[in-house]
Amino acid sequence: MTERSRFAVLGVTGGIAAYKAAELCSLMVKAGFDVHVIMTENALRFVGELTFRTLSRNPVTVSLWDQPDWRPEHVALADRAGLFVVAPATADILAKMACGIADDALSTFAATYAGPTVVAPAMNPAMWSHPACRKNVAELSARGVIFAGPVCGPVACGADGTGRMMAPAEIMKFLPLN
Ligand SMILES: Cc1cc2nc3c(=O)[nH]c(=O)nc-3n(C[C@H](O)[C@H](O)[C@H](O)COP(=O)(O)O)c2cc1C
Repeated sequence: MTERSRFAVLGVTGGIAAYKAAELCSLMVKAGFDVHVIMTENALRFVGELTFRTLSRNPVTVSLWDQPDWRPEHVALADRAGLFVVAPATADILAKMACGIADDALSTFAATYAGPTVVAPAMNPAMWSHPACRKNVAELSARGVIFAGPVCGPVACGADGTGRMMAPAEIMKFLPLN
């Protein structure tokens, strides 16, 4: 891997599957990626920043405003990243990415970065099949964003259908590993 292809940003959003992103983070590090995690404020309701800081061995970005350097972090990360993975990807972040909305650290990074992108959606099946979500998925697919899932099965809210996040080991198969 080149330094750029090794530099991966992992976006974690506010869905119950956020805890599974910890395993994905760990698998990415083991596969040789230098993982930089950006969490949404809502993701913090499901899993702690410390988990990702420890597993990734890098600082975690949550706030757009709490900057470690003179350079805005979303620009600094976008300049270096060779891969962007969002897991779990909420209906909300898919909508923001499709429209270019940039109102927090993760969506602002997504609106700055234009390289290889893999998303692993996770949501209630009714959200996944909603016309608004279908439109956003079509827009992102047309732009070359790769969709790892979602898969069919029971989801945390009790429903059964397509909306379950793909298992982290399966998501790994969608990432460029050389
Ligand atoms: C308990 C709970 C679980 C949720 N799970 C999901 C989910 O799996 N997928 C999803 O798209 N939204 C889910 N939501 C709704 C999102 O948290 C909400 O849309 C939020 O605005 C997403 O913010 P973010 O994309 O900035 O993280 C859930 C909400 C709650 C309260």
